[in-house]
Amino acid sequence: MRILVINGPNLNMLGKREPEIYGTTTLLEIEKALFEYSKTFSGVELKFFQSNLEGEIVEKIQNALGVFDGILINPAAYTHTSVAIADAIKAVNLPAVEIHLSNIQSREDFRKNSFTASACIGQIAGFGKDSYLAALFCLVKHLEKQK
Ligand code: DQA
Repeated sequence: MRILVINGPNLNMLGKREPEIYGTTTLLEIEKALFEYSKTFSGVELKFFQSNLEGEIVEKIQNALGVFDGILINPAAYTHTSVAIADAIKAVNLPAVEIHLSNIQSREDFRKNSFTASACIGQIAGFGKDSYLAALFCLVKHLEKQK
């Protein structure tokens, strides 16, 4: 099964960015950890994409149709603003899991609402790098049930 991993704005700055909230792990280290973890499942292939631009993320999701079986997405700040990304996930109708490094429910009020979560099959937040690994586990289990 082919899984597209999308990271939104400012996540390319992980490692340097607000380490007290997001830790010191870089995006490349997260992607490597996901890649290693993906080998523990049979036949799972990952492709990674990061963009700071909403339209690019929308296009990537649209182009996933017929190519990928599922999506892991940390929409970052677009979580709280983007009807367009939510609509794109609904449009392709691929199972997607929303990921956050931080626990968005325990932060500022504006982070508590997610526009994108309602388009996803679930959301995992608050476990740093492990949020990504847990999301991969859950998506693979979901896709296996669909077979
Ligand atoms: C984030 C949480 C968002 O509120 C924030 O804008 C981010 C990162 C997280 O992974 O914890 O950029 O998605």
